[in-house]
Amino acid sequence: MSRLFSSLTLRDTTFRNRLWVAPMCQYSAVDGYAAEWHHVHLAQFASGGAGLVVTEATAVSSEGRISPEDTGIWDDARADAWRPIVDALHRRGAVAGIQLAHAGRKASTWSPFSGERGTVPADRGGWTTVAPSAVAFDGYATPRPLDADGIERVVADFAAAARRAVDVGFDVLEVHAAHGYLLHQFLSPLSNLRDDAYGGTLENRMRLLVRVVAAVREAAPAAVVFVRLSATDWAEGGWDVDDTVAASRAVRDAGADLIDVSSGGLVAHQRITTGPAYQAGFAARVRAEADVPVNAVGMIDDARLAEHLVASDQVDAVMAAREWLRDPHFALRAAGELGADAPWPPQYERARRR
Ligand SMILES: Cc1cc2nc3c(=O)[nH]c(=O)nc-3n(C[C@H](O)[C@H](O)[C@H](O)COP(=O)(O)O)c2cc1C
Repeated sequence: MSRLFSSLTLRDTTFRNRLWVAPMCQYSAVDGYAAEWHHVHLAQFASGGAGLVVTEATAVSSEGRISPEDTGIWDDARADAWRPIVDALHRRGAVAGIQLAHAGRKASTWSPFSGERGTVPADRGGWTTVAPSAVAFDGYATPRPLDADGIERVVADFAAAARRAVDVGFDVLEVHAAHGYLLHQFLSPLSNLRDDAYGGTLENRMRLLVRVVAAVREAAPAAVVFVRLSATDWAEGGWDVDDTVAASRAVRDAGADLIDVSSGGLVAHQRITTGPAYQAGFAARVRAEADVPVNAVGMIDDARLAEHLVASDQVDAVMAAREWLRDPHFALRAAGELGADAPWPPQYERARRR
């Protein structure tokens, strides 16, 4: 019996298996609207057997976009663009998740396809970025520190985005608090130099994230809420695994159902040691010490490795990103390798056996 291909239930949502699609920016939206590319891209993973498909980082406000080509959900029209995509995921048996995001000081950047790097200037479609403090990410523009009203607006934007996401049918709302984006910028002492209630002590630095999670929970009482955290900044004096355990407990108490454990992205001078499942140990620590469901992510490309992580009770589920790009039917293949019952679409049944 494969544990990877056993179902998992969180609140009222049942995932058919525990091999999931991680959020992946596509830099293919026009003016914040999810488009045909997103539909084809995401639906293929559901046909390919994924238990959960999570959208790319989707901005809760227009200035929260990483690049001008990111999707958004800051109004009803942009939310509606997701509706046919959510329906396509559901029709193919997958749970539909959206990653709710604000890029903070890493917003308004060129898409990787543009051939340019750094911050997009205002006269080419960029905007002034915001952050906890006026500390720039290496090579990017210096952000404007958020004042008290700005912080209230961020909380309200996440809550409104959560409400819209549920309205168009999303089951899972993932709060993006990793990879050096706005909520992570508040968590880390390397980017948060504030001396008010949102800076200084660990509790103060976690305050915005905890408020956002509580607001999302209140706005979407029945939704499954994930929080993506970077377990470490991989840099001297930065956010670390002990802090991550503390934050996981705090967001669990504020209404989060699962922690999606990633790492890095806050500073350019990070020194990351990678390898197969290199972040899974962080996830296992969070699960054991914060007593909350977790998923591992990061270089888990192999069915047996994914199965081992779940079957040995280190994690509850596995997300992958790049392996789904290499093979959009990763779950069908993985189930075959593990001798599990794969959710093959009947349309593809004739290809199932060689
Ligand atoms: C094309 C691409 C886009 C990504 N965009 C996002 C994103 O929008 N949000 C996010 O949290 N992580 C993003 N990531 C990181 C992935 O979710 C994942 O954590 C990372 O790629 C490690 O998993 P992997 O080794 O299976 O690819 C992206 C990764 C890729 C390859």
